[in-house]
Amino acid sequence: MANKKSDTVLITKDGIRHDGRKKDDLRNISFEVGVLDRADGSALIHWGRNKILAAVYGPRELHPKHMQRPDQAYIRCEYRMATFSVPDRKSPAPKRREKEISKLLGEALEPALFTYLYPRSVIDVFIEVIQADGGTRCAAITAAALALADAGVPMRDLVAGCAAGNLAEKVVLDLDDVEDKEGMGDLPIAYLPNLEKVVLLQSDGVFNPDQYKEALDLLVPACKKIYQLQRDAITDKYSQITEEVSKELAEAAEEEAKKEEESAKDKKKDDDSKAKDDKKSKKATDDKKEKADEKDAKKKKDSKKPSRKKDNKASKDKEKEAKKD
Ligand code: CDP
Repeated sequence: MANKKSDTVLITKDGIRHDGRKKDDLRNISFEVGVLDRADGSALIHWGRNKILAAVYGPRELHPKHMQRPDQAYIRCEYRMATFSVPDRKSPAPKRREKEISKLLGEALEPALFTYLYPRSVIDVFIEVIQADGGTRCAAITAAALALADAGVPMRDLVAGCAAGNLAEKVVLDLDDVEDKEGMGDLPIAYLPNLEKVVLLQSDGVFNPDQYKEALDLLVPACKKIYQLQRDAITDKYSQITEEVSKELAEAAEEEAKKEEESAKDKKKDDDSKAKDDKKSKKATDDKKEKADEKDAKKKKDSKKPSRKKDNKASKDKEKEAKKD
């Protein structure tokens, strides 16, 4: 939080905030799941003006080996802010704040994962803040949980994050950059909505015990609401995939049926032409046989008839003998 305060009215007497929200209103949140081809899982979150990309690689073998855990996977989280993500150019070198957020986000993600399934492995979670507008750590962990689910890493639960704040002694939900810098306090949490467990809780600024309780009473339902959005995003992606796969399968089956129909048609054509040929050749053989039979019959008939030539010759021979006598 910055010390310099502007004249912005953060919250009116009627409880309306500088951007028109009421105390328990969240900014608009939307997700895109599976946005990176090379990552095992990824998610892009738009949370108000925040734009944050999370990419998951692994589980994979961890190097250097001395960092391996013999009984579980190591969740290596890296939170970075792009130099252009904030109004004043940020140095590209990782600062204390980024190192701290990286560590605590990794630790907050761990209880949601079955890390014991992947001993000696690492699950890398890279978080890039492309545009920042307050509450980036909460948005970051929300996107990271979705990227882990997209990577198919076995999970006990998703993780949803949100922050509450103290604006002029009024507890409100989901601070933007102006409220974060000019308000009296900021209380981010990360929550496992099904297991009902808080896995991250920080507090920066001033909250009295009642305000603290009020903040948690706002945060838990807000995290459950964010969880529903996460669920919808992942379900949408996988129902789309299911639809695409079933469409592809239906197309393949149709193609197969067409091929079978065509080959059946071809076979019928072949059979018909073969039958025609057989008929033709049978007819030709029959004709040939008939002709041969006719010829044979004629031959036989001819052989039974006495030859006139022979008879003539015999009578001439008889006449000659008679003359001689
Ligand atoms: O973002 P988050 O609330 O989790 O962390 P923060 O340290 O309380 O920062 C609050 C906001 O300050 C960020 O979301 C950014 O909008 C802004 N910020 C900035 O303008 N320049 C930085 N170097 C770091 C943060």
